[in-house]
Amino acid sequence: MNVTYNINASGFYGEFGGAFVPEVLHRAVKELQDSYAGIIESDSFQRQYRQLLRDYVGRPSALYEATKLSRKYGARIFLKREDLNHTGAHKINNALGQVMLAKTLGKTRIIAETGAGQHGVATATACALLDMPCTVYMGKTDIARQMPNVERMKMLGAQVKPVTCGNMTLKDAVNDAIRDWCCHPQDTFYVIGSAVGPHPYPDIVARLQSVISEEIKWQLKEQTGRDYPDYLMACVGGGSNAIGTFYHYLDDMRTRLVLAEAGGKGYDTEQTAASIHSGSVGILHGSRIMVLQNADGQIQEAYSISAGLDYPGIGPVHCNLAQQQRAQVIAINDDEALAAAMELTRMEGIIPALESAHILAALPKMQFKPTDIVVLTVSGRGDKDMATYLNIEH
Ligand SMILES: Cc1ncc(COP(=O)(O)O)c(C=O)c1O
Repeated sequence: MNVTYNINASGFYGEFGGAFVPEVLHRAVKELQDSYAGIIESDSFQRQYRQLLRDYVGRPSALYEATKLSRKYGARIFLKREDLNHTGAHKINNALGQVMLAKTLGKTRIIAETGAGQHGVATATACALLDMPCTVYMGKTDIARQMPNVERMKMLGAQVKPVTCGNMTLKDAVNDAIRDWCCHPQDTFYVIGSAVGPHPYPDIVARLQSVISEEIKWQLKEQTGRDYPDYLMACVGGGSNAIGTFYHYLDDMRTRLVLAEAGGKGYDTEQTAASIHSGSVGILHGSRIMVLQNADGQIQEAYSISAGLDYPGIGPVHCNLAQQQRAQVIAINDDEALAAAMELTRMEGIIPALESAHILAALPKMQFKPTDIVVLTVSGRGDKDMATYLNIEH
């Protein structure tokens, strides 16, 4: 049988995914389901999108062989440098594409949620460039810990709406964005920042981020003589940089896939965001996924030092990859991530985002052979995390 880990015709990845949305959003979601693939794959969309990725985002992002890191961990380790993109993370690949999609569908207003602020900044940037009004929902906890990004969004002309429900992080920001969307389903396009949400969002995000693995293929061929690595490694919040990194290798069994989710203070404690290790199957934000929930199905508050991974769920594609044991999932605690960020900074002169630091912290837990080729995605840069790294009180 030809196994595929990609989406099926009904919007599921194995038992995960689907579109569980309130009645009022049915029409908008159906419109998107019927049109997204045709629009994204059309020549005119691809021409404009590719040109923006090259001339505006600065792609291709570098594939850098980190020789000191390689020596320490005993394999050839390459870093896919999404931190070098315009606005500082992979999020811009998706935000530009979704704002273009919104315009093609005739929508006149953009809303988004953000945790670390990188998706908010990317969406505000795309809206400034493509002349769309933009509202970004962000939890008050995240506003405090990611202040530089809040200021950037405001300067870019976006309205940042503080969210004060729950523990005031990413989940709560998504809730408020969905509430807004329910009130304005006709004119508003919801730009979702990760591979989560109802079908077709996970597939939209996967297609737009797939440029990462498309580039890895030819860059690796150029640098090593073969176009596939033994390991691909990425951190996972909802899963957008990870699916971008894996996309063109999903069904290539020569490449092992490794994900790092946020253990917080430990996946066996209450202060965690490790949905694969500690969650169970449930429905959150329109999709059947692994979620942190209590015995009654109430969603539990997630915890991670990293705002971008502080979410009680994980996208459906990754739930399936984990369930099918196609991907290995490692939980990384706050202190391990902080140490890994410092190590990359001092060893290679690259200050990574706290989210990316989680996958760097998986390196000591791997058992590589010296001939192994490893590609690890550095999803973003650490400017936004300086206060946390330097332990400065807000
Ligand atoms: C730099 C960075 N990396 C990773 C993530 C996690 O998101 P995802 O799993 O969608 O890549 C975020 C989210 O804000 C981020 O800002």
